[in-house]
Amino acid sequence: MCGIVGYLGKRNSLLILLEGLKRLEYRGYDSCGVVLSNNEEIYLYKKVGKVSELEKEVKNKNLDGNIGLGHTRWATHGGITENNAHPHYDCSQNIFLIHNGIIENYQELKEKLKKKNHNFYSETDSEVFAHLIEEYYKNNDFENSVLKALKEIRGNFAFVIFNKKEKDKLIGARFSSPLILGLGKEEYILASDPSPISLITKNVVYLDDGDMVVVDKNKGVKIFSFLNEKEKPLVIYQINWQIDDIKKENYEHYMIKEIEEEPKAVFNTFYKRLNFERLETNLKELNEIKEKLRNIEKIVLTACGTAYYACLYGRYLFEEYLNLNSEAEIASELRYRNYPYNEKTLLIVISQSGETIDTLEALKIAKKRNVLIIGIINVPGSSITRLVDKVIYTQAGPELAVASTKAFLAQITSLVILMIYLAEIKGINLKNKKQIFEEIKIIPEKIKEIINRKEEIKKLAEDLICFKNFYFLGRKFQYPIALEGALKLKEIAYLHSEAYPAGETKHGPIALIDENFPVFILAPKDSVYEKTISNLEEIKARKGKIILISDEAFEKADYVFKIPKSLEIFYPFLTVVPLHLFAYYFAKILGREIDRPRNLAKSVTVE
Ligand code: M6R
Repeated sequence: MCGIVGYLGKRNSLLILLEGLKRLEYRGYDSCGVVLSNNEEIYLYKKVGKVSELEKEVKNKNLDGNIGLGHTRWATHGGITENNAHPHYDCSQNIFLIHNGIIENYQELKEKLKKKNHNFYSETDSEVFAHLIEEYYKNNDFENSVLKALKEIRGNFAFVIFNKKEKDKLIGARFSSPLILGLGKEEYILASDPSPISLITKNVVYLDDGDMVVVDKNKGVKIFSFLNEKEKPLVIYQINWQIDDIKKENYEHYMIKEIEEEPKAVFNTFYKRLNFERLETNLKELNEIKEKLRNIEKIVLTACGTAYYACLYGRYLFEEYLNLNSEAEIASELRYRNYPYNEKTLLIVISQSGETIDTLEALKIAKKRNVLIIGIINVPGSSITRLVDKVIYTQAGPELAVASTKAFLAQITSLVILMIYLAEIKGINLKNKKQIFEEIKIIPEKIKEIINRKEEIKKLAEDLICFKNFYFLGRKFQYPIALEGALKLKEIAYLHSEAYPAGETKHGPIALIDENFPVFILAPKDSVYEKTISNLEEIKARKGKIILISDEAFEKADYVFKIPKSLEIFYPFLTVVPLHLFAYYFAKILGREIDRPRNLAKSVTVE
């Protein structure tokens, strides 16, 4: 987690750093800081709290500097204090750095450095790296001292570093945490994601694990591996993010803006990939691995959080339509298992950010074992996209609220397309292929219909605001949606909410049910409708308060939110929308920090 941005060029870096930090704030927001320098002075400011607080403090100080670093923190080592906030520096206050990640052997290094008379002011692992560079800088070779220091640390990291004595230079390095270089006209920017970079340029270089980059105002850019010290060519990409995509416009929160973008996320993900006349897919991105895919006999899907619920959806989908052995695994568990992959296994990793460390590590293990891997990813150029065999990009556009919403819809859309594609190449006759094509085409409109009724959901949230516990129940394709509904409420409203497969309640959870326990039951008219309704009856018999989400009315429910009719595999696209809206309005009434909920960060890059 943590967002980092470094600038070297001809402008006043302060404005770029502050705007860049605001765009990176989704990565962590408990404290922040900047350091900048002109020829004479070093200006260092840190603040507990948001970037807007820091901005207030520095705004009228006429600070200026063509080189600077900015950081927004999600605390790992050391409490949320100004001392622990970044940028960090060495004893001589020459070396300044920002860090995202964890230095696992920092204690051991700190002890060694203390014996060499280094004094530490913070509890962080990051400060240790500044002193380690200082230790090697005794020979006055900045580049080499960073290189030596990098070889001594273990863990995952992205750093940007500058040295007061060599102010024409910015050094960056990464291992398992993201870092992207932006190349402007006589100016450079290094950041955790493309959003700050788009402030000055569209030309970017995605750094790989083990890369160190030296940006020199006079000599230009040099990239090499700090692992084998070999120089690498600059491979320049163009970012296609539009500035409007990351504006909040007139919305109060990114989350509600992003929920309203759900129909567009689904449409943009499928429209170029499906041929509605020929009832065929057009998944060009998989052409090169078509033969291998034809032979796969097992699919493993892995991810974290909401993306994992998309995996669960995929498991039901592949089993049902392809009759393929499919499993969905939580990435933080999969990575520690001795998983029996074989040459006929396909691994699908799903991630909005493409940076989630657990997902990344699970995929690295599979990669070492030569497993075929497809990524379903939203952020172009992110770390996961660079490691998988092929990527299916979800077209949700930038998602900035910590709670993932539209990305989930785009992920399950991609899974439907992939399922049809696999059926095509494996020669499987899809049961209701024509209806699937007809239904996906109109699903964005059906989602829009639900969003247009958001006032109903708002009223429901108002009516239920006194309750402190919620269950979410669903069977089969609705079980991942129940999990998603419960997670959203937990994340942004800080409420106790749990999800179960509806049939499982009688094995324990039903013990909690009484008139003070509202239960969301997801029961569209699918193949398990009647079974789910029996579970509803069981809850009702124990006086539970029932909120039914269905395309059928049912008089025993206390409240029914009716959704349009659809096919079984598309009902999740509809039942999830009122749950996203419910969590949003519930959190709003409670006055929660909706886009930046406590203790969380959008992109989880620590284990
Ligand atoms: O970027 P990713 O999709 O890999 O993120 C995975 C989870 O961290 C993420 O879905 C998280 O659970 C969200 N905050 C859920 O709203």
